[in-house]
Amino acid sequence: MQAFAGTSFDSLDSYALTELPVPEPGPGQVRLRVAATALGYVDGLMAQGRYQIKPPLPYVPGGEIAGVLEAVGAGVSTLAVGDRVVTWQLGGGMADCVVVDAADVDGVPGDLPLPVAAAMLVDYQTAHFTLFERGRLTATDRVLVLGAAGGVGAAAVALAARAGAFVIAAAGADDKRQAARALGAQATVDYRQPDWREALKACAPGGAVDVVVDPVGGDAFEPAFRSLAKDGRHLVLGFAGGAIGRLPANLALLKNADLLGVDVRHFLATQPERARQVRGSLFRRVRDGVLPPPGMTRFTLAQAADALRATLSRERRGKVVVVPQGGVADTGRLA
Ligand SMILES: NC(=O)c1ccc[n+]([C@@H]2O[C@H](COP(=O)([O-])OP(=O)(O)OC[C@H]3O[C@@H](n4cnc5c(N)ncnc54)[C@H](OP(=O)(O)O)[C@@H]3O)[C@@H](O)[C@H]2O)c1
Repeated sequence: MQAFAGTSFDSLDSYALTELPVPEPGPGQVRLRVAATALGYVDGLMAQGRYQIKPPLPYVPGGEIAGVLEAVGAGVSTLAVGDRVVTWQLGGGMADCVVVDAADVDGVPGDLPLPVAAAMLVDYQTAHFTLFERGRLTATDRVLVLGAAGGVGAAAVALAARAGAFVIAAAGADDKRQAARALGAQATVDYRQPDWREALKACAPGGAVDVVVDPVGGDAFEPAFRSLAKDGRHLVLGFAGGAIGRLPANLALLKNADLLGVDVRHFLATQPERARQVRGSLFRRVRDGVLPPPGMTRFTLAQAADALRATLSRERRGKVVVVPQGGVADTGRLA
């Protein structure tokens, strides 16, 4: 099989398409024929050894994987060859096939295309956990989403708007702000402008927000926190802006505000059944047209190097999705 593997974290140039033996599933494992692997900002960091988890080398990037089962190991009774599945791994998806633990695999409903399942798997689940489990979102909340056209940001806009909240999308380009409006944002701000907090005050009902969804950090962090109303919640997801923001602690006191960390991996690890229910519900809502599918930029496995670089580029539009050349016969078998 072909896999896009790297032998060093020093440079993305160490990654290349490589011929590897087809892996056999051990007891409790399954092998997927990869139909699509989605990549987020994290995958670009991980491939450079810059993420909090450093995978072993050689490393095959791509963690958000959808495919069709083509082999099951001993002791696997709940899954069968032909099942359409998704899994979130630390990597392995930029390949024709991958072996994973059966316990980490979830079914995909019929009629939901596998590339869509891969593209929404982590971002929708993360946004849902952020807004509803950590952020205690209600229909009367005003929500500011930073990086609102990014993977997690776009999912947060779509979910918060459908929950009835007033959503203000902060994004750094005209077409990104338009995309956020199409997802349900009622107002937008260009947070690359130095006076963007004034623009936010002008468009937020009452001049403040109750919830900030923050996957960006950096320079946007403190102005966003200062824009909270009393009892506001600022949710820290990551630092796509490149820097970890800082905050004078008195601001939390003045606002009676919560600064909340979000770690969706911890949620998945500690509440797997709850996570599975949420995931299933999100899949069905996208399949039924209640939630929009993520925007996607597709790459083949032969274009894997471009795909990986695209994850780190602010100019990219939509989720990066790698569909191995030739794809995979998607039988549409019901999960
Ligand atoms: N905590 C968790 O559980 C969890 C789970 C998933 C992801 N995350 C984190 O969430 C963050 C976003 O991930 P994602 O996959 O949604 O990323 P993404 O699709 O690349 O979106 C990130 C957004 O950040 C903005 N941005 C600002 N400065 C940037 C820069 N210098 N380079 C690139 N983008 C920049 C961009 O929007 P503008 O151009 O509009 O500013 C971009 O759309 C990452 O830090 C990731 O680690 C956290």
